[in-house]
Amino acid sequence: MTVRVPAKVNLQLSVGPLRDDGYHDLVNVFHAVSLTDEVTAVPSERLHISVEAAPRSRVDVAGVPTGRGNLAARAALLVAARLGVEPQAALRIRKAIPVAGGMAGGSADAAAALVACARLWDDREDPLLGRAELLELAAELGSDVPFALVGGTAVGLGRGERLTPALTRGTFHWVFALAEGGLSTPAVYDECDRLRAARGERPRSPKVSEELMTALATGDAKGLGGALTNDLQPAALLLKPALRRTLAAGRDLGALGALVSGSGPTCAFLAESDEHAADLEAGLDAAGVAAALVRAHGPVSGATII
Ligand code: C5P
Repeated sequence: MTVRVPAKVNLQLSVGPLRDDGYHDLVNVFHAVSLTDEVTAVPSERLHISVEAAPRSRVDVAGVPTGRGNLAARAALLVAARLGVEPQAALRIRKAIPVAGGMAGGSADAAAALVACARLWDDREDPLLGRAELLELAAELGSDVPFALVGGTAVGLGRGERLTPALTRGTFHWVFALAEGGLSTPAVYDECDRLRAARGERPRSPKVSEELMTALATGDAKGLGGALTNDLQPAALLLKPALRRTLAAGRDLGALGALVSGSGPTCAFLAESDEHAADLEAGLDAAGVAAALVRAHGPVSGATII
């Protein structure tokens, strides 16, 4: 059972106040792009996880845990517990999504593992774990996991797990600049809180950007480029100052929009067309401001059995 699952870029990431449970209320507009991981589940006596870089991808998988610290392993255990079966599967994860890159790669793998294990262990015509149940398990695993199941473009409220599809038209073309090393999501949120406190800012409840929704609905890439926002970006730039040069290089090369993806350090650049994306990629490569570059388009579907 092999499941393909996309990375995400956040088109709007508005961070509200810190809640009592340690999370922040968000307006998180997710957009799934054609940079994907694959998770294969095969029957095995016990749960086993292996992680490798996908062919032709230069993702560094050295830091990915292969034990129960892997979110995909936790997904498998959760599915087994719900179905009342032993977690008898070997999960092989082939990664093209950068690790700790702000593109929800770990969440994507967990979503893929949910789908793969649910199918592997329950072949009833009317499965016990349908779409609604899988979405619930996904939200238990992490704030970004439900979106990896759903894909497309969606507005996430609450922790980001309460999803509503966004109306979009056409395809958007992206270049992603991968950085050397990752950033820890909790560390970036902490830095964001610290920065705000130092500036005496009191964050208000975030609102969905009308400008962004209009650009998406009309397929207006220029409008979308101008409407991209990420409240975590100042914190990510403080933790990895080299990203300033990366963003500036993309803007100088004519990107319609340039921002840090999620908690970073991957930077996302919006292009006018696939051709423009290829030029942008070549320019960024020549500028030497990224460890690796990837071209992708969105929106694409969520976790899919292949
Ligand atoms: O939900 P998930 O485990 O992916 O979140 C990782 C971390 O990101 C949380 O522990 C928290 O520090 C931060 N986070 C947050 N507010 C959110 C989502 C994530 O503070 N809405």
